[in-house]
Amino acid sequence: MRILAIETSCDETALALLECSGSIESPVIKAISQALYSQVKEHAPFGGVFPALAKREHVKNIVPLFLECLEKGQMLKKGSTELSEEKLATIKTMLDHERGLFEQFKEHIVPLERPAIDAVAVTRGPGLEPALWVGVNFAKALSYLWDMPIVPTNHMEGHIASVLVNEGASQIAYPALALLASGGHTELVLIDKPLSYRRIGQTRDDAVGEAFDKVARLLGLPYPGGPQISKLAAGVRAKELPPSDIKFPRPMVNSDDYDFSYAGLKTAVLYKIQELGELTDELKERIAYEFEEAATDVLISKTKKALEAHGAQVLIVGGGVIANVYLRERLTNLAAEAGVILMLPTRELSTDNAIMIGAAAYLHLASGESYQPYSPTSTALEADGTLRL
Ligand code: KG4
Ligand code: ZN
Repeated sequence: MRILAIETSCDETALALLECSGSIESPVIKAISQALYSQVKEHAPFGGVFPALAKREHVKNIVPLFLECLEKGQMLKKGSTELSEEKLATIKTMLDHERGLFEQFKEHIVPLERPAIDAVAVTRGPGLEPALWVGVNFAKALSYLWDMPIVPTNHMEGHIASVLVNEGASQIAYPALALLASGGHTELVLIDKPLSYRRIGQTRDDAVGEAFDKVARLLGLPYPGGPQISKLAAGVRAKELPPSDIKFPRPMVNSDDYDFSYAGLKTAVLYKIQELGELTDELKERIAYEFEEAATDVLISKTKKALEAHGAQVLIVGGGVIANVYLRERLTNLAAEAGVILMLPTRELSTDNAIMIGAAAYLHLASGESYQPYSPTSTALEADGTLRL
């Protein structure tokens, strides 16, 4: 079956076409094409994602990206769809909240031939609500226009499902444990069977990606800070310098649960910077390195504890922070020591994308759940910024 997937939960506008088959136990999930625009440059001056700006950028880019995605998938054909005035008026009402979106939709999408797509998947949450709504309303309009079932999807489930993409007949053995680490989340999720998620730990304050971004800002590095910190830290490792006396705490590393806390670590970095005064490049590298060590140690130690306590056979990881090379290395070692299979998405699939959203939607479709085309009178579908697994 062919799925069109849409993701606008944060600062990436992403669309993808997938070809999926197989059972929920052994799905075959392949990306046919994708189109993605990252708004990093737009948000950089603000040092973080600015919701109103994210929404505006999604509105500006979603139609061109949709066309690009169809074109790449060789599914873009001009047609002669007859559309009633009434149906067009309904679509206008559905897109009214996104200024200018209806006009683009009418000009570029309405005249297309209906592509052979079996379902449209869209991120419903969690994320920034103004941003989520753009994808949700766009997906509703497409679903209504072309009579395609719409599958509302959880972004975090998408990060989990990202490990199933392009792996041929890859399978998850249960119970599995998922570590999700991104700019908005730090969670450990136990998966006893397909589609059954139980969150056993989470951050009590900042997410780990947020801590990377905040520490980067303290060091005067551009947003997003994760990759910058990672680069500096890698420099220190390559030089094999003697240990320094800069050391940071590992918050909650010995606590009797699977929760995390990153606000205190960030504050410790702030105090250290204030104490040091003028920061040389060498000191900045050192701080980045020591911070990355501390942040990673806690992730690894809690994950290890959860793997052991729950007898997990598989460790699934996902979220933007998983793009971190050092963390990937530590996770690989952890899995080898613990004797579990590590399912690690490629770096491109670790950060936000639409392929993972299509993958999560397929799991639900493959399980036999039924989804209908969007109808303004009978479908309730809303973006939900705080949606949980
Ligand atoms: O999953 P994601 O793309 O978006 C959210 O849903 O939040 O994650 C973005 C987060 C940012 O905080 C970014 O700094 C972090 O992932 N990140 C990294 C790296 N690449 C991205 N953190 C550490 N090391 C990296 N290489
Ligand atoms: Zn994400």
